Amino acid sequence: MRIHHAVSRIGCFLIKKSTRDAFRSCRSLHSTVPVRSVELTKVRYPNLKRGPFSVLKDTDVQFFERLLSGAGRVLADASEIEGYNTDWLKTCRGCSELVLRPKTTEEVSAILNYCNTRRLAVVPQGGNTGLVGGSVPVFDEVVVSTQLLNKIISLDELSGTLVCQSGCVLGNLEEYIADYNLTIPLDLGAKGSCHIGGNIATNAGGVRLLRYGSLHGSILGVEAVLPNGEILDCMSTLRKDNTGYDLKQLFIGSEGTLGIVTAASVLCPQKPSAVSVAFLGCESFAKVLDIYKEAKGMLAEILSAYEFLDEASVSVNKENLKMSSPIGDYPFFVLIETSGSNGDHDEEKLNTFLEAMMSKGLVTDGTVVTESLKIKDIWSLRERVAEGLLHDGYCYKYDVSLPQSKFYNLVEDMRERLGASVIRVVGYGHVGDGNLHLNMTSPTYSSEVMSNIEPFVYEWVSKYNGSISAEHGLGFKKRNFIHHSKSKSAVSLMKQLKKSIDPNGIMNPYKVLPDD
Ligand code: FAD
Ligand code: MLT
Ligand code: ZN
Repeated sequence: MRIHHAVSRIGCFLIKKSTRDAFRSCRSLHSTVPVRSVELTKVRYPNLKRGPFSVLKDTDVQFFERLLSGAGRVLADASEIEGYNTDWLKTCRGCSELVLRPKTTEEVSAILNYCNTRRLAVVPQGGNTGLVGGSVPVFDEVVVSTQLLNKIISLDELSGTLVCQSGCVLGNLEEYIADYNLTIPLDLGAKGSCHIGGNIATNAGGVRLLRYGSLHGSILGVEAVLPNGEILDCMSTLRKDNTGYDLKQLFIGSEGTLGIVTAASVLCPQKPSAVSVAFLGCESFAKVLDIYKEAKGMLAEILSAYEFLDEASVSVNKENLKMSSPIGDYPFFVLIETSGSNGDHDEEKLNTFLEAMMSKGLVTDGTVVTESLKIKDIWSLRERVAEGLLHDGYCYKYDVSLPQSKFYNLVEDMRERLGASVIRVVGYGHVGDGNLHLNMTSPTYSSEVMSNIEPFVYEWVSKYNGSISAEHGLGFKKRNFIHHSKSKSAVSLMKQLKKSIDPNGIMNPYKVLPDD
């Protein structure tokens, strides 16, 4: 039993005051899979019918060229728009012939007004890091990219309210407000590429949800353009405002089906001044849960993340990304992050906690780091699994909420079910939020493997009253399984809402809502 640099030397271990924000990765995410080799969505799903939308004409392109003057704002060249047609996972590919890059809310309004009148279908796109095929066209929808809606509008240092356009990259916002000792209440592996508008549209969770709660609490205001071009101003910067229905909430998690989010106000917490990360090895998933229970009690208010990886996930990093683990091989790994405002206080708590975990036999091996680069390396082990999996070929990605006691049984059942038909079955995720990421890989897409996974996985989750999408949304891939997590009456009201806001159905068709 050993803890490197930590429990064995825990008595003299000094946690230096530091913040993780300076060292967490903020690189943008580029995949190595060639775009042209991705099968067209309309070919992979031959039963799917194109909706009753108009086909783009030269006169439409001319209209947009007049509206969006300046280079690089109207893209119609096949090579330029390839990347906008294909998702990050390289599992969906549309055949849009037009990408529009507005800079202002008024331009977005004019675009949607025109598309609605002409019945041209539209896909809003942020950083295109979505994992359910929601951000790319299915057929020939026009892509409206928020890449140039990237201005920071204001920051109120006292309240911590940041107001910005929706195309600001999450990592850039974090860097900007760090100078004011503030941080963004959302953090995820895609932060170097994803946009705050995309985060809002997917109600992204990430690794800070445990500490700061969901975006339903930290987004104070939203400005959105409705499908008919009307600008909906819900840009409150207030924490408390009970005047009527809270309409901004409708856009948080709407995945581009109700309109385009053009700006938002975000409540930003104080940046913690002391951060440490422990990476621990343990023998069973039951122990992962026992450690979590103890961490909640003993680390309490300084616990800011509790993540787990199984051995197969760490192997992905080692084999496909040539990364190394700072500790030996174990069936399970736990990443615990603490952050607070008093390093000495946090150090004492963490030391006492780790000693207790060792003496109870819950932790077999581990390391604790406080230096910026080492913290970054350990977070990379957790956050780069998604990227590593792509190197296997095709990734079947599932993101479910389950009672924590049932969490890992799904991974084991899937492993037994799929056997040698897949390269691997891995489980990792946000234990603290009851959110498991289950992933399988094969060299190329196999409809046979897929039919062994779906609907089995959704039925399994539904049996334990879980959610078939914890944080990634439904997008294109999961919408027809919504009934495993939502009642008939709920889906029916969703459809009515969609119809009243978007009667022509132009906004992100074939996404979120199931086929009739
Ligand atoms: P996109 O992918 O461009 O779009 C996502 C959806 O939102 C689409 O339906 C799109 O139409 C819509 N949309 C985008 N912008 C707007 C807008 N302005 N108005 C209206 N609709 C819009 N998700 C998590 O929840 N937690 C994680 O920990 C997490 N980690 C990730 C790690 C990696 C490496 C990757 C690749 C993805 C991860 N994701 C995670 C998934 C993804 O949801 C987030 O990356 C992010 O929220 C998507 O933002 P985006 O700007 O890339 O949106
Ligand atoms: C994560 O937590 O790493 C992301 O949600 C991405 C994934 O599920 O692979
Ligand atoms: Zn996640």
